[in-house]
Amino acid sequence: MSHSQSEGSGQAYGKIILAGEHAVVHGQPAIALPFSSVQLTVLMNACPDHSSPSVTIKSDYYQGYFFQKHHHLEGIQAIWKAFFEKYSYPEPHLSIQINSSIPAERGMGSSAALATAFTRALFSYFNLELTGELLNQYVNLAEKIAHGNPSGIDALIVKSNQSLFFQKNHRPRFFDMHSKSYLVVADTGQTGNTRQAVQAVSDLLTEFPDQAKKKIDSIGDIVSQMMSAIHSDNNEMLGQLMTQNHELLRALKVSNQSLDQLVQTALKSGALGAKMTGGGRGGCMIALGNSLTKAKEIAQNLENTGAKQTWLMNLNH
Ligand code: PMV
Repeated sequence: MSHSQSEGSGQAYGKIILAGEHAVVHGQPAIALPFSSVQLTVLMNACPDHSSPSVTIKSDYYQGYFFQKHHHLEGIQAIWKAFFEKYSYPEPHLSIQINSSIPAERGMGSSAALATAFTRALFSYFNLELTGELLNQYVNLAEKIAHGNPSGIDALIVKSNQSLFFQKNHRPRFFDMHSKSYLVVADTGQTGNTRQAVQAVSDLLTEFPDQAKKKIDSIGDIVSQMMSAIHSDNNEMLGQLMTQNHELLRALKVSNQSLDQLVQTALKSGALGAKMTGGGRGGCMIALGNSLTKAKEIAQNLENTGAKQTWLMNLNH
């Protein structure tokens, strides 16, 4: 039997979906990239047994009792419950600290990163081995609470150093990017709601099955073509496919005015392509620049048009 120690820690990265979000929930492929410029760490420290409350949590979004009702906490509370049901250890008195540079609810995978770092911290606190498969089970448990019907892509990419071609019920394919182009990531500053956006696409599928399915299938085609563009280092084609993907996401009603405006600004600034990323209806967009100088110029123009924050991402990793 393993023994607990006085502290545990876990970490995870943010992520960017290059193409295929939403369609991936309905069986089409998607491409996700690890985004190490933003990350999240969970630290767990033992408190004296008589401390009250027994488990406390501190982050930018909440502090106090760990079992308080808060939508950001539901996922990790479910992980905690599942863990102690499985391992039957006495529940420890802990202080939990979350440090994150991943903006919440912006399509950057913050909920999956929190679930991943939290699970890692719990297993490290109890000195238990955590296999990739077990980690996935805990993270998907939390993601179901956050998203309702997650495809599973976020759970895999926030613990990866490599890019990922993902399709439900297929073996995930990890690969490296070798492009000289740069991705600009821009935050609208508005929170999205992935659960509602995913539900909206399901509603469209119920209401207009033929039209909605056609759009979802077209996104799948775009993702397949993108893999060819990536392998042949054809950045013009990659950019065009990103913009086509954005138009289809608009047609599925998961974009919004702020995202559309930033996409237009990026294209007018000479981006090879641009699109929203993640759940949408707020959150972030991405644009492809054919050089670092171009990417910086696009980022500056996006900030001038209202982007709250921008990041540059080297596509050679
Ligand atoms: O959690 P987000 O906003 O990064 O979006 C995840 C991508 C979706 O395709 C919208 C949902 C999913 O589970 O794949």
